[in-house]
Amino acid sequence: MPARLVVLVSGSGTNLQAILDAAADPAYGAQVVAVGADRDDIEGLARAERAGVPTFVAKVSDYTSREHWDRALADKVAAFEPDLVVLAGFMKLVGESFLGAFGGRTVNTHPALSPSFPGMHGPRDALDYGVKVTGATLFVVDAGVDTGAIVAQTVVPVEDDDTVESLHERIKVGERSMLVESVGRMAREGFAVEGRRVRLGG
Ligand code: GAR
Repeated sequence: MPARLVVLVSGSGTNLQAILDAAADPAYGAQVVAVGADRDDIEGLARAERAGVPTFVAKVSDYTSREHWDRALADKVAAFEPDLVVLAGFMKLVGESFLGAFGGRTVNTHPALSPSFPGMHGPRDALDYGVKVTGATLFVVDAGVDTGAIVAQTVVPVEDDDTVESLHERIKVGERSMLVESVGRMAREGFAVEGRRVRLGG
């Protein structure tokens, strides 16, 4: 049986698309059973609909508190019985309820080389700092901001004439490959988290 993935998105969903494309091959070992978002009318949801994958939306503004939203999000995800939850450009921090249900089996991709440049502006912060290489990090989500145990990283150069946009686009090319490869291996081989270290095939 392929592993069941629920993917959460907030934007264009190119990382989601890379997983959808890979998962079309049964040998990939995982299928996207649902795509969720924290907002309507985004290309990420449209990509899921075009692929015939069920979607759901949980907007913070529709709930009386952040905690209620977090619980509702966890319930919506749980309805699809995922083996692994993939945050792919999901621009919200999940909270206690979500981690209570899916901690240890939720991964997030961040457009910087952790532990450098956590937060919402990884490419901008790397460019401003003047680093010559940056990249993307796949990690097991914990209660911090981009602090979880690292599954995989990919490195890209920073060019002298880069803008935030050109740098982020270069990062995303590497990021998509890293995500597809790592999620596939996690699905097919399993994984173990030992302290800060993640072992694939665990
Ligand atoms: C990706 O680069 C992802 O790492 C980043 O948003 C982009 C989403 O692209 N996520 C974050 O910054 C989370 N803090 P996509 O919608 O085209 O997949």
